[in-house]
Amino acid sequence: MKTVIDGMTIGYTDQGNGTPLVFIHAFPLSKTMWQPQVDSLPDTYRVITIDLGGHGESDIVLWNDTLDDYAKNVIGLLDHLGIAQAVFVGLSMGGYTLFSIYRHYANRVKAMVLADTRAQADSEEGKAGRRSMAQVAFKEEAPAIADIMLPKLLAPSTIEHRPEIVEQVRQMILQTSTAGIVVDLVAMTARPDSTDLLSTISCPTLVIVGEDDQATPVAESQYMAQRIPRSTFVTIPQAGHLSNFEQPAAFNQALNSFLEKCPL
Ligand code: MLT
Repeated sequence: MKTVIDGMTIGYTDQGNGTPLVFIHAFPLSKTMWQPQVDSLPDTYRVITIDLGGHGESDIVLWNDTLDDYAKNVIGLLDHLGIAQAVFVGLSMGGYTLFSIYRHYANRVKAMVLADTRAQADSEEGKAGRRSMAQVAFKEEAPAIADIMLPKLLAPSTIEHRPEIVEQVRQMILQTSTAGIVVDLVAMTARPDSTDLLSTISCPTLVIVGEDDQATPVAESQYMAQRIPRSTFVTIPQAGHLSNFEQPAAFNQALNSFLEKCPL
């Protein structure tokens, strides 16, 4: 499905009835990364996935270049769909977007799932790495970004033994526009530190991380879980950064059991 919000075409999916669950994808992927959750969640939930600007089926407004802009686009879609409150699930860059949503629209958040993400802003070295990745994207486009990102997104065991997963993730990256990749890098580089926000998060929160996550290691998730008052912490064995896609059964089980216990 598609709609136009604030002059930007947004691709999204919307299925089921009941408590809305809104899934926000990682860099440099698309809503397709949530297919294993969309396929398995009961239709007693209203499951919504969204393509951020320049990803999947969404167009891009180039000056929407902060995570606050991304948050506004997500909330704009919820307004369009008539949804006042939702459970939000964000993985990595989706988690950074979720911090912006909580900072500006906390009253829209019933509960949240912070998957394979971190609260800290980028280090100077991290910022420099993003600037050089943006140059690579400009010159060599998505195939070169796929070569850089696949070993960061997937556990070494996934890369070695599960070529079909590697190929699916590569295809998702190849469908991301160069503009989308570069704007994400600009937005992530400029994102504020969210460490101080953690102790103010008052909704039920699931912090979840792949045991072999190299991009946002387990210790960073533990750090968040220790500071968020009503948090549950789960690690996913044999998964890297893309824990929901590499080990969907374990991820879905953690998600379902969190949702069942949540006062929704
Ligand atoms: C992501 O998966 O969204 C990225 O790895 C996030 C990042 O580069 O910080």
